[in-house]
Amino acid sequence: MKIGIITGASSGLGREYARHAFEQFELDELWLIARREGAMRDLADSMPERRFRIFPCDLSRTEEIDSLCARIRQANPQIRLLINNAGLGFLGDFEDITEKNNCAMCDVNMRAPTLLTSAAIPYMTQGAAIVFVSSIAAFAPTPRMSVYCSTKAYIQSFAKALRYELAPRGIHVLAVYPCPMNTDFLAVGGINGNSRTFDRLPRCIPEKVAKVSLARAAAGKGSYTPLALMKVYRLLAKLIPHNLIMPISRT
Ligand SMILES: NC(=O)c1ccc[n+]([C@@H]2O[C@H](COP(=O)([O-])OP(=O)(O)OC[C@H]3O[C@@H](n4cnc5c(N)ncnc54)[C@H](OP(=O)(O)O)[C@@H]3O)[C@@H](O)[C@H]2O)c1
Repeated sequence: MKIGIITGASSGLGREYARHAFEQFELDELWLIARREGAMRDLADSMPERRFRIFPCDLSRTEEIDSLCARIRQANPQIRLLINNAGLGFLGDFEDITEKNNCAMCDVNMRAPTLLTSAAIPYMTQGAAIVFVSSIAAFAPTPRMSVYCSTKAYIQSFAKALRYELAPRGIHVLAVYPCPMNTDFLAVGGINGNSRTFDRLPRCIPEKVAKVSLARAAAGKGSYTPLALMKVYRLLAKLIPHNLIMPISRT
């Protein structure tokens, strides 16, 4: 059976990936992963013509990821698409963010995609794709989101190196670098109204980000940064020393 797997499918960008994945990839079934089972069920019910499997799972908990990976092995599927999208980012100086929240960002944003990718690759063949959702925060260190930007820089580097390693097998790897989107992310991370940088930045639209990145993943592209202004920022962050960028990137 040909399947796709999407983490963070209960809201925001992940929900849009789930709504549009069937358009670019030939899938018999889409596996949806997040904690909020009801939201994933509502999504599945809204598309009765498609097959979904819902996995309520807390990706910060090792035993829950282990059981998810065991379900993959048990099903022995052909994985055509893996989207590592679940993520969270808390705003504030490092010392003001609780250890629990700092660790949750490391676990959900880095550890979970690492473990899931490792579980999925043995079931992928030529033409399959792995999508990693990073952020523009990966381009340069972002004061007041120091752990978050570091997790997204990890994803950037991981995706690039993995793309190189998997190219001979024809498995595509795409990294996506969204700028702010009006999703639950802003409220969950305490960002709404507390960051002038975030308030000023243009927004990208989750549905468009999902549709374009799915098309780019299917075409074997390596990266996608929505909005021309953010492509310019990406270039500047490569050219200008980060000490000079940080007064601008500070959230
Ligand atoms: N929104 C932005 O401004 C922005 C900008 C750049 C990059 N991004 C990235 O885009 C991705 C999607 O975020 P979004 O904007 O769509 O935000 P969102 O609506 O808050 O979605 C985050 C998703 O991650 C899931 N998630 C969080 N913690 C989890 C956990 N412990 N276990 C399982 N699932 C968990 C949530 O599901 P449950 O709560 O149901 O578990 C939810 O489905 C993230 O990787 C984020 O870092 C967002």
